[in-house]
Amino acid sequence: MSQSVFEASRRRTFAIISHPDAGKTTLTEKFLLYAGAVGEAGAVKAREGRRSATSDWMEMEKKRGISISSTALTFDYRGMQFNLLDTPGHRDFSEDTYRVLAAVDSVVMVLDVAKGIEPQTLKLFEVCRSRNLPVITFLNKYDRPGRAPLELLDEIEEQIGLRPTPATWPVGIPGDFRGVIDRTSGEFTRFTRTVRGSAIAPEEVISTEQAAAEEGSAWAQAIDDVDLLDAVGAVVDSESFLSAESTPVFVGSALTNFGVRHVLDTLVDLAPAAGERLDAHESPRSLDAGCSAFVFKVQANMDKSHRDRIAFVRVCSGKFERGMVLTCHRTGKPFATKYASQVFGAERSTVDEAFPGDVVGLVNATDLQIGDSLYVGDPVEFPAIPRFAPEVFASARPLDTGKFKQFRRGLDQLDSEGVVQVLRDPQQGDANPVLAAVGQLQFEVFASRLEIEFNAPSEVTPSPYESIRFTDEESAERLKEIGGIRIMRRGDGRLVALFESRYRLQRLESDEPELVLEPINVGT
Ligand code: G4P
Repeated sequence: MSQSVFEASRRRTFAIISHPDAGKTTLTEKFLLYAGAVGEAGAVKAREGRRSATSDWMEMEKKRGISISSTALTFDYRGMQFNLLDTPGHRDFSEDTYRVLAAVDSVVMVLDVAKGIEPQTLKLFEVCRSRNLPVITFLNKYDRPGRAPLELLDEIEEQIGLRPTPATWPVGIPGDFRGVIDRTSGEFTRFTRTVRGSAIAPEEVISTEQAAAEEGSAWAQAIDDVDLLDAVGAVVDSESFLSAESTPVFVGSALTNFGVRHVLDTLVDLAPAAGERLDAHESPRSLDAGCSAFVFKVQANMDKSHRDRIAFVRVCSGKFERGMVLTCHRTGKPFATKYASQVFGAERSTVDEAFPGDVVGLVNATDLQIGDSLYVGDPVEFPAIPRFAPEVFASARPLDTGKFKQFRRGLDQLDSEGVVQVLRDPQQGDANPVLAAVGQLQFEVFASRLEIEFNAPSEVTPSPYESIRFTDEESAERLKEIGGIRIMRRGDGRLVALFESRYRLQRLESDEPELVLEPINVGT
């Protein structure tokens, strides 16, 4: 077995998707604790504190104290190398969050048992679905009152269409958590509380007889549930998990460390290793082929004295060695990887070699764009990273009309980089563009880069639009006659209609079904 194939087989490259507050940070921290990467939980949060104090990172990030830049966290567990890619949430939600999912092989979905599936999880899940990513589900916060677990399983099935297959099943109701039954071994692991879970939880495995005697009606209920799950065939199944039809479900409490090890073990035992990636023509790139990678995120450092650009790539084949010269498929130009780093938060460390599944930050990547493919040896082009349906809109204008040229240059560049999507009025060209994004943060990044890199301070103000649809020339003529609708053109030339009222759009769809009003789905 070649070194690349061996190293790829021990990579687990994944992301955690969740709604803010469901417990993603806590679970990440506990992963590190269980992997022995930190001595004590709390280190991830401590990092966050330090991050805002560092001077060489994005101005805005410092001001807001958020992690626009955190990208990949790497740790070893049971002989595997885990690469956990960050999916920022809260206000820093942006297209980048979605794009990260193009670079992972599986996903851990964290749900709060009191809340179930929340909007942000659903949005991120849509992207997982479009990429057929296997999903492991963690029902978190079972130490607190919440909803009945069977009801949550129904919700998973109904809302996201994955067949839930519980790997562990809880004894006790949320808030009165006694432990879990491992459905493979039948063993009962008792729930133990460590003080805020700062150390690895001792695991107390108890025989079923003892559990039945000690846990009484809670045990009887759990056994009834398990019988029901057995009867409907809800058992963990590797094949349907890997083809993204079923999701193994774990119940636990990240705060008190309960269930964390189960999830890590499942990532080792069940989740896919870094495999051969398909190119744009759907042919697999052999893991043994020359080094190849694609750019899934570009980050411009806005600090004036430190104006670099980092392109984050996922390695797809071969061995990456710092200093090697890769060719960019789009431009045909060579790119020297003299400065390659691993970045998490504001911390960078140099990377000397990397293998399929790894993420490398290429510094000084002035010419690289999101979606670019890089290679040595046989040329390869990986599939384009899809654009996403915008949900927020803004208008932009240069504050200094003498700087219109710079403004235009910035618009083109930032559109092509995918910082925002620029929509132009077919009649007015670059005047009065509408910016479209999935999160407000993208507008802030846009304005800041326009000013700093293009010397074109701009005013970006929220636009009243609520919905966007693809349309065509013929329908556009009719839509123009109706008020509250704006026809614009995307960077790729497609016509879109922007609606100020969602209700209005719905009515129009039913009143005039002949109009072309196509939803923008992931990847269109
Ligand atoms: P996020 O990254 O998904 O946004 O969530 P995060 O881990 O920051 O967790 C959000 C809140 O939920 C935190 O409380 C955290 O301690 C709590 N939490 C996470 N997992 C569990 C769990 O299993 N059980 C219980 N009871 N709580 C959990 P906070 O008060 O916002 O912050 P902190 O003061 O605890 O740090």
